[in-house]
Amino acid sequence: VVGASSGIGEAIARELGRRGSRVALVARRSERLDEIRAEIDAQAGEQRALVFTHDVADVGAVPSLFQEIATRLGGLELVVYSAGVMPPVALDEFPTEKDLGTVQANLSGAIAWLNSAADRFSRARAGTIIGISSVAGDRGRVGNPVYNATKAALSTYLEALRNRLARKGVTVLTAKPGYVRTALIDGAPLPRFVPVISPKRAADQILAAAAAGDRVVYVPGWWRLVMTAVRAIPAPLLERINV
Ligand SMILES: NC(=O)c1ccc[n+]([C@@H]2O[C@H](COP(=O)([O-])OP(=O)(O)OC[C@H]3O[C@@H](n4cnc5c(N)ncnc54)[C@H](OP(=O)(O)O)[C@@H]3O)[C@@H](O)[C@H]2O)c1
Repeated sequence: VVGASSGIGEAIARELGRRGSRVALVARRSERLDEIRAEIDAQAGEQRALVFTHDVADVGAVPSLFQEIATRLGGLELVVYSAGVMPPVALDEFPTEKDLGTVQANLSGAIAWLNSAADRFSRARAGTIIGISSVAGDRGRVGNPVYNATKAALSTYLEALRNRLARKGVTVLTAKPGYVRTALIDGAPLPRFVPVISPKRAADQILAAAAAGDRVVYVPGWWRLVMTAVRAIPAPLLERINV
């Protein structure tokens, strides 16, 4: 699980460990990863989790780290890319450096990790890839243009991977959460009356969708209806409202 040190990735990693899988925890904050590893192992009563400290901006390191993880786990059935950032961007701000950091974490890292997964799984003719995209990729909105763009690109990339890999027996799931109570949305302006779910609930729904062989899962499912409506908003109207 890439991005296993907090939020949705942490919840997925914990759930995989709880269900009996061996799991590799990948992210930058090694102390946090060590705590999560210790808790997964203590709950299981055996060693199930391994920690790999890695910055996804270091795309050159991915192929060898990917291989090391597969070897140390004794195989690989599932790769989850949950790493991501959403730095606050003011409505009158067009911050190229900040934006390119968002591209690295949300998109370049995903391509590096999931290309490695696709290569391995297509040769094995088995495996599951989960990419954590977002409802935010369904439309370009005023709040955070590059966050929207990275998620749109990630969703399209995952769709293309799925079209390549379905014929090889590999499952590719695009997960599109709405609001999940994690550090990512701390302090972000959230619309009133929109429910925020727990990372555990998001993780359960995402893992259930992957097990069912779904292609795209909105989390929770009612976001599919909401985003159908948001996609239908005419462009001239979207220019006038703060959706
Ligand atoms: N929370 C929401 O409402 C929501 C909604 C839709 C989609 N999502 C998506 O869900 C995914 C997980 O986010 P979250 O909500 O669980 O937030 P989070 O708690 O902030 O988790 C983000 C994870 O990404 C990792 N990460 C960020 N930059 C990284 C880097 N350069 N190298 C390695 N790991 C990096 C973080 O680890 P380190 O900091 O330790 O490196 C952390 O494990 C993201 O892709 C986000 O866009 C979230």
